[in-house]
Amino acid sequence: MAERLRSKASADAPKLVRVLSGEALWPPPVWLMRQAGRYLPEYRELREQAGGFLDLCYNPELATEVTLQPIRRFDLDAAILFSDILVVPHALGQDVRFVQGEGPQLDPLSTRDSFSRLKDAIDLDMLAPVYETVRRARAELARSKALIGFCGAPYTVATYMVGGRGGEEQAPARLMAYRDPDAFADLIDRLVEASAAHLVAQLKAGADAVQIFDSWSGDLPSREFSRWSTAPIAKLCEKVRAEAPGAKIIAFPRGAGAKLADFAGAVPADGFGIATSEDLHAARSAVYSCRALQGAVDPIALVAGGAALDRAVDDVLEALGRNPLIVNLGHGVRQETPPEHVARLVERVRAA
Ligand code: CP3
Repeated sequence: MAERLRSKASADAPKLVRVLSGEALWPPPVWLMRQAGRYLPEYRELREQAGGFLDLCYNPELATEVTLQPIRRFDLDAAILFSDILVVPHALGQDVRFVQGEGPQLDPLSTRDSFSRLKDAIDLDMLAPVYETVRRARAELARSKALIGFCGAPYTVATYMVGGRGGEEQAPARLMAYRDPDAFADLIDRLVEASAAHLVAQLKAGADAVQIFDSWSGDLPSREFSRWSTAPIAKLCEKVRAEAPGAKIIAFPRGAGAKLADFAGAVPADGFGIATSEDLHAARSAVYSCRALQGAVDPIALVAGGAALDRAVDDVLEALGRNPLIVNLGHGVRQETPPEHVARLVERVRAA
């Protein structure tokens, strides 16, 4: 691994790629989780033409446009593929629906028997429009901008697959993990395989980096966290690197808190996402200093704007700016965010 960390990206590589190769750049690159979405009027307009949310995800022409909208408006350093973490269960044969205002709904896999409804392997042909979107977005972006692909972490995706929907504490999945750990391990293993294939396909289509979103594992006690979050994500990274050598990977174990040091010690990612509630200095000392941190401006400070937003940005720059840093939020952009506040955030980072 030390060998890999020493390999520098070339000077004309996108800033995000250079930081993920261990360089500290000033000003640091900036992009935002959920930078495309309903807070942008141009997204809302296009969303109406598309039909359902999944139809939009599987329409390369429209999905490319949505991917590029925030880059055009704010000149961010990276675009993130417009898609969703739940296309993986969809391509494994599970029924997935997005109901306006209610979030995603899946036919829950509540027992091991119900796993027989899943395909043996992910149907990559079904996701061909997603890879086509990656190809088109990469072709349209300037070389200085990075394109990020992504997937959900096996644990986070499993919580939706077992529970059928998002829920405060992901109780159905956690219950299965306690009552029938072999069944839950089987599901997690299937998701490691499927997610690796999905990330490799995005990298081969032109993504410059990939991010693994683990939105829900922070709630787990340490023993469960290392079994269901850390170990599967470590295996996922290794599988991706075996098939796409040199791939740049960002892992985001949201809310890992004091569990971050063990996580970062075991997961061979190039960058680690930090959530809003984390202590920035503790996060920095938890992760080997040449590996990048990404975060962690409060999305609610972004809604507030003004001096509160400036302070939130400055705190991140001051705490993390001496090492490789990617400025981002601690979670996604909220729907009520005024777009001008995003412009102000980018300006503040660039003026640093
Ligand atoms: O970041 C981006 O701009 C890229 C696209 C992206 C979406 N979802 C688009 C989306 C990404 C990276 C995601 C990740 C995702 N999806 C996560 C992990 C990150 C996180 O937020 O914790 C999770 C848990 C999901 C599952 C999901 N998809 C939920 C819970 C919801 C409903 C909540 C909501 O905000 O509406 C979605 C729908 C979704 N995914 C929307 C978008 C833009 C809104 C759909 C709409 O336009 O109606």
